[in-house]
Amino acid sequence: MSARVNIDRIREDLLELSEIGRNPRDRGIYRMAFSDSDLAGKDWLEKKMQGVGLSTSRDGVANVTGLLGHSKGGLARVVVGSHIDTVPCAGMLDGSLGVIVGLECLRVMQEKNSSLRRPIELIAFSDEEGRFGGTVGSEAYVGDLSREKLENACDLNGVRLVDLLRKQGLSVEQALGSVRKPEDLHAYLELHIEQGPVLDKLGLQVGVVDRITGLRSWAITLQGETNHAGTTPMHFRKDALLGLADFAHEIGRILDEVGSPESRATVGKAEILPGAPNSVPGRVDFSLDFRDPSPAVLAELSTAFDRTLLAICRRRGLASEVHSQGEIAPVEADPMIVGLLSEKATALDLKFQVMPSGAAHDAQLLAKITRMGMIFVPSKGGLSHSPAEATDWGDVEAGANLLLQALQELACS
Ligand code: HGY
Ligand code: MN
Ligand code: MN
Repeated sequence: MSARVNIDRIREDLLELSEIGRNPRDRGIYRMAFSDSDLAGKDWLEKKMQGVGLSTSRDGVANVTGLLGHSKGGLARVVVGSHIDTVPCAGMLDGSLGVIVGLECLRVMQEKNSSLRRPIELIAFSDEEGRFGGTVGSEAYVGDLSREKLENACDLNGVRLVDLLRKQGLSVEQALGSVRKPEDLHAYLELHIEQGPVLDKLGLQVGVVDRITGLRSWAITLQGETNHAGTTPMHFRKDALLGLADFAHEIGRILDEVGSPESRATVGKAEILPGAPNSVPGRVDFSLDFRDPSPAVLAELSTAFDRTLLAICRRRGLASEVHSQGEIAPVEADPMIVGLLSEKATALDLKFQVMPSGAAHDAQLLAKITRMGMIFVPSKGGLSHSPAEATDWGDVEAGANLLLQALQELACS
């Protein structure tokens, strides 16, 4: 029988990593990009990789890599990975599962002494969760992180990316030097939880991803006039919070009018200023994350959101400022890899389907420079970005064995 993963090792590693950055109060994981717990997670991973016998390194944006094997005759490498940074109050699977399963696959190949034609690189990308709007680690890796973008990048609290990198002894030059050449890579594979309800509802074990949706992330400010909550008549107010309420209320209409069934729009974070119960809010800062697999629909949504903001500002005497935090283009997975994963899933007798991804992933950046493929495993109840994130270990094992087979095919044959 061909090699199989050891699901107990996967579970052990995952549970160990999940304690780094765990908040005992809400059992959520807080390994936000470049936070102390994210860096502790990277240190833990580096040691784990070394324990498996991989040669490890960290590039100029703190992507952590472990290499198995050497290329015979300079053949390009296969890359497998995901991310271990999290959103605040995260579950233990988003990103981390793909890195830990990749580690187990390389461990098995090491133990079986697989004869590699191509080296395999395991990677944990920095800041996949978009603290700085995009996906800093994979953007730098594919050459999408320009000097200007890097030097201007700051999070929603005004913290600058270059300052966080400098704290780790990394310079702008080193960050820009993280870029890889397309000819150095043969293919990229990523296993990830679906983060949606489809596989779970259909009772399937695995998804083979054929395309990944596109994403735009805006930071918006509505500026009105702070005033006294008791003495200011309602019709004299320039209430920024009511402007946000109007905008949020318009989202459904905009998606109905110019969106598609796969369009999504979310206001996930908002700050009301000055934030006093007895002051009329003079300013709100909020985020807008919107997505669609079609570039044309994304552009239509951008125009509609812009127009709606202007109309609300006119109506309420507000001013608006929109800053694009990041944009990730929609992509198709490589047809050869979709075919390979489907063929191996069939050979493993897995219940699977080919499907799109509603979440953004590092894989969609890697698609710019190499053949890309993704494997999904089900999210119970479709939950993610929540401590309730869960996947049956039997499904993890099925997805992991599929990844192992695909890696062997790509690196050994
Ligand atoms: O937001 C996303 O789609 C991903 O989880 N970063
Ligand atoms: Mn993820
Ligand atoms: Mn995520």
